[in-house]
Amino acid sequence: MKVPLLDLKLQYQSLKKELDKAILEVAESQYFILGPEVAGLEKEMEAYLNVKHAIGVSSGTDALLLALMAIGIGTGDEVIVPTYSFFATAGVVSRLNAIPVFADIDLTTFNISPKDIESKITDKTKAIIPVHLYGQSADMQPINEIAEKYNLKVIEDGAQAIGVQYKNGNNVGTIGDAGCFSFFPSKNLGCYGDGGMITTNDDALAERIKIMRVHGGAPKYYHKIIGGNFRLDAIQAAVLRVKLPHLDNWSASRRKNADIYKKYFIESALNSGTNSLKYNVDNRVLLPKSTYDNLGIKNHHIFNQHIIRVKERDALIDYLRSKDIGCEIYYPVPFHKQECFANLSFNENDFPNSDIAAAETIALPIFPELNEEQIKFVVDSISDFFKN
Ligand SMILES: Cc1ncc(COP(=O)(O)O)c(C=O)c1O
Repeated sequence: MKVPLLDLKLQYQSLKKELDKAILEVAESQYFILGPEVAGLEKEMEAYLNVKHAIGVSSGTDALLLALMAIGIGTGDEVIVPTYSFFATAGVVSRLNAIPVFADIDLTTFNISPKDIESKITDKTKAIIPVHLYGQSADMQPINEIAEKYNLKVIEDGAQAIGVQYKNGNNVGTIGDAGCFSFFPSKNLGCYGDGGMITTNDDALAERIKIMRVHGGAPKYYHKIIGGNFRLDAIQAAVLRVKLPHLDNWSASRRKNADIYKKYFIESALNSGTNSLKYNVDNRVLLPKSTYDNLGIKNHHIFNQHIIRVKERDALIDYLRSKDIGCEIYYPVPFHKQECFANLSFNENDFPNSDIAAAETIALPIFPELNEEQIKFVVDSISDFFKN
């Protein structure tokens, strides 16, 4: 049996008729950039996320970059980010000649540790970027409290978490000053190229983002501010409009798959089912925990990734790949260990949880169309690995 990490062809087959039609309609219209498809997607996303403004942009990375530009981040400003995330979270800060300041994560959720934020604040700090990693909300209440206390902006990186609710029921991307999403094909809501979105309830900020999305001209060709080309294209919007109504079902299937993994990991005695964060003979594999799973919130976790921890990570990955099981490391090198950030000042030992995550995590297949037999095969293979 082969188990890919992700198989997008199955999703395409299930919606092929509608998707092909939507793409061809854009070709017929010859309206390729922004336009009615993008405006339609923005309206539908505003309703879905219950937010005043959703602004389609060219990628998740560009969503972050543009949001930071729009709140005025520039040379020498400090922006606090988790050291354990996709590179874009920190990369965009440096691209504006600002300084990413790293904070450690919480090992239960792999999200930024609010406790680690306050000590990193200086008189240059301007913003915090909490990342809702793997499809679960960062702990936004203490983050917003710190932001308010020090007059900082909060830009949520929700690239992996579209449709996720925080414990108060609010959607991620609507809790800070702005939210940033990615429609990279492997995301829960993915398009057929690059795409992204910025959300905000702040009218003035939305206006500024819309102007900066098209080089900052308002009216066109008259520039008080400098923006860039951050436009979403119509084919991507058309694809996303077909897919959006299915997003909650796909996320529910991912949660169901996570439950099936848990059942088999417990049955195979690799995990005790107690949400332990400590390895012992009953917990050789540590499973992801949905922090808000018993609060009756629909999308408390959307499992963009299903992340387990094992001490023997690298050997296990080799073993799984030898059995044609797709798996990946997200992310092997935290920001504080990246060469490009070596000139920044921080204490190497300040990020023990991120170091553990980088050394011990593996993403297993979790996509909605994965079947129970495949999940059992993955867990049986992990069980065989520990027996050998
Ligand atoms: C946490 C996080 N931030 C930002 C991004 C950047 O999104 P994109 O690939 O659409 O530029 C991604 C996606 O890859 C991500 O996972």
